[in-house]
Amino acid sequence: MAAIGIDYGTSNSEVVFYDGKTHHSIKLDPSLEDATKIRSSVFIYYNDELPMPPASAIEAKMEQIQRVIHEQIDKAKSHYYDATDPKEQEIYSDKIDDLRAQFHNRPALQRRAIQALLNDLTVQDLSLSQLVDTGTFAFGEAGFKRFLKTPDKGRLIYSPKNFLGASLVGGQQQAFVTMIAKQLQFFRASAEQQLNQSVDTAVIGRPVRFHGTRGEEGNQQALGIMRDAAKKAGFNRVEFLEEPIAAAYKVEHQLQRDTNVLVVDIGGGTTDVCCIKLSPNRSIEVDRQTDVLSVTGARLGGMECDKNLIIKAIAPTMGQDLLMQNGLPVPPTYFSDMCAVDDIPKMNHFFSDEYGLDIAQTMSIVKQPKLLGRLLTVQEEKLSARLVNSSRLSKELLSSKRSITLPLHYIEADYDVKITLDDLHRSMRPWLRRVKKLVTECLESSAQPPEMVFITGGMSLSPIVKQELQAMLPSDLPLIEGDAFNSVCEGLAIQAAKLF
Ligand SMILES: Nc1ncnc2c1ncn2[C@@H]1O[C@H](COP(=O)(O)OP(=O)(O)OP(=O)(O)O)[C@@H](O)[C@H]1O
Ligand SMILES: [Mg+2]
Repeated sequence: MAAIGIDYGTSNSEVVFYDGKTHHSIKLDPSLEDATKIRSSVFIYYNDELPMPPASAIEAKMEQIQRVIHEQIDKAKSHYYDATDPKEQEIYSDKIDDLRAQFHNRPALQRRAIQALLNDLTVQDLSLSQLVDTGTFAFGEAGFKRFLKTPDKGRLIYSPKNFLGASLVGGQQQAFVTMIAKQLQFFRASAEQQLNQSVDTAVIGRPVRFHGTRGEEGNQQALGIMRDAAKKAGFNRVEFLEEPIAAAYKVEHQLQRDTNVLVVDIGGGTTDVCCIKLSPNRSIEVDRQTDVLSVTGARLGGMECDKNLIIKAIAPTMGQDLLMQNGLPVPPTYFSDMCAVDDIPKMNHFFSDEYGLDIAQTMSIVKQPKLLGRLLTVQEEKLSARLVNSSRLSKELLSSKRSITLPLHYIEADYDVKITLDDLHRSMRPWLRRVKKLVTECLESSAQPPEMVFITGGMSLSPIVKQELQAMLPSDLPLIEGDAFNSVCEGLAIQAAKLF
């Protein structure tokens, strides 16, 4: 039996096993060069026919068909009474008999109803529960590539973790349990196969505050979903550890003496910060809460930067600043709604026919409708997730380039957008201010100052982020070097090994 650490991230997930000496990263995505992480998005799709509509929908459709038949019977009756020729009367009489037979033939009605429903049904009409219960799951790069190739065949859940703290209605909560259980089951099976032993315990990372606006209630819901999913995936014992504290445990293994360390973990969904007393001597203890000097976190991740970059650098080429005939600008909500890939109600609203009609109407009262046509294409072809992903790639490329040309040919032929490092920096300013405020808060509530700092998470690879953080911290505070993606998970694996 083995215990593993699972970093279930907003953008990427990792699994690590620690044997007391060495960390073993589990290979999760064979199509990635760096196979030790996997994209957290899930594509749920159908190869052939969509699932059978629910019984209630079939019943309603049957009643609708019966109403139509009833009207046809009434019409045939009145023709029968108007007819003077007995031959004509016989035709209507036969027709009435035939319609009555149709009205009472339930199996035939049911077949017609199902066919009619299936003809109109698209994947987007399915509820999350139906989708999760009946679709096929594709994870990682393979799933994302399948989404790019055949977006109509399924639905992409860009970052399941983003929804866990949100208000979930109907069967959505259970749907997320099923969805995440499938991912965790895949992680567990990969670990068992590569470690050649069974795995029944997991320490799963958690942000200090989950995404969502529901505070502690949202956190508890998120942990409940993760716990249920892990149980469903076959884990008998599940513990949670705050992500920055996990990263600190990894740092602790590199230290020679007791040191107060500030850990800043800037991921795809959240920024999590802690100040902690690390000690090589105490590193074997399971509960280290008394060593935590302060810990905090907020919904401030890289995905927000991706959306902000769209608004600042891409949306202006989609008609964002156009004026309508009345002199007012095009509704700015068009563009924030377009980016709402982590908000199910907002995304459904944006993809609705009415929303498309609204954009089309606005197109008729602006001078350059062509630009708004790009927005309409994103709306009609449901390209939001793809656009946010393009923006993410641009942001990552701008970590090593001063400017890039982003091809958006899936929106319009030859549609390229030039984005500079300066554009990115400008789009990140309010976000950076809030990240720095969070770090300041953590420092202010720590009873002792840090002696070293460790910056991790994918966003720490951005030179802009690194420079701004270093500039706000004392210049003599030594920076600990470490992996931007694996540190949290390696710390979780250390904790998992302690439990065993
Ligand atoms: N080279 C890079 N330059 C800038 N940003 C990068 C780079 N590489 C990755 N990122 C960003 O890092 C973020 C993902 O980081 P990470 O994998 O640490 O997040 P996560 O653990 O999945 O999320 P969270 O911990 O918030 O749940 C994404 O927003 C991604 O665009
Ligand atoms: Mg993370």
